[in-house]
Amino acid sequence: MTIVVRPCESLADVAAIEASVPTGHSAYHAQRFHRNAEGAVYLLAWRDDLAVGHVLVTPVSKYELVRARLGTFPEVNALGVAAAYRRCGVARTLMEAAAGLAVSMGGTRLGLAVEPENQPALALYRALGFRRHPDVDPVDVWAWIDEAGVEHEERDRCSYWSQPCAGRGVG
Ligand SMILES: CC(C)(COP(=O)(O)OP(=O)(O)OC[C@H]1O[C@@H](n2cnc3c(N)ncnc32)[C@H](O)[C@@H]1OP(=O)(O)O)[C@@H](O)C(=O)NCCC(=O)NCCS
Repeated sequence: MTIVVRPCESLADVAAIEASVPTGHSAYHAQRFHRNAEGAVYLLAWRDDLAVGHVLVTPVSKYELVRARLGTFPEVNALGVAAAYRRCGVARTLMEAAAGLAVSMGGTRLGLAVEPENQPALALYRALGFRRHPDVDPVDVWAWIDEAGVEHEERDRCSYWSQPCAGRGVG
């Protein structure tokens, strides 16, 4: 299956990813797309005209704990693949593109936080060569907006993982 990864570029792209990977949280994808204003890139994976996956790449970690303990380097958040397209290499392709982007952001390392019970994600990150930082367990605080426009805050305790990304091609 041929998967092409490119940055989310427009509200039409946002609508496309919302149609194929609905989150149930209004504006989830739009909020991540609009973080391009702060140097982040929301990558989308496409199979022909169908958006089948997404991941956000930020120049530095969102977690103060990680920045203080491990330093500053790019990070991926909000990885997701449409249910019908899982186990086809979409996440692997997105993560390879994210690593290339991290290098273009000047990073030599790529980090991520994951909930300890998320076995598919843990298997993916291990398969890609990420290693856990056992003493760095950030709390992921994230917000979503319901249909009435009310913002809700979620707090998830995570483990933290990273891998070197220097030397990878950009793409
Ligand atoms: C986790 C997720 C992103 C994986 O996406 P995917 O496109 O199915 O992953 P890939 O096909 O690229 O898998 C690459 C490798 O990761 C591992 N892997 C991925 N999903 C797995 C699963 N369910 N069980 C075991 N291993 C898995 C395997 O080693 C796999 O290689 P293989 O298929 O050759 O065995 C997807 O399941 C998803 O969107 N889950 C819901 C959202 C989520 O949890 N995001 C992560 C937040 S931290």
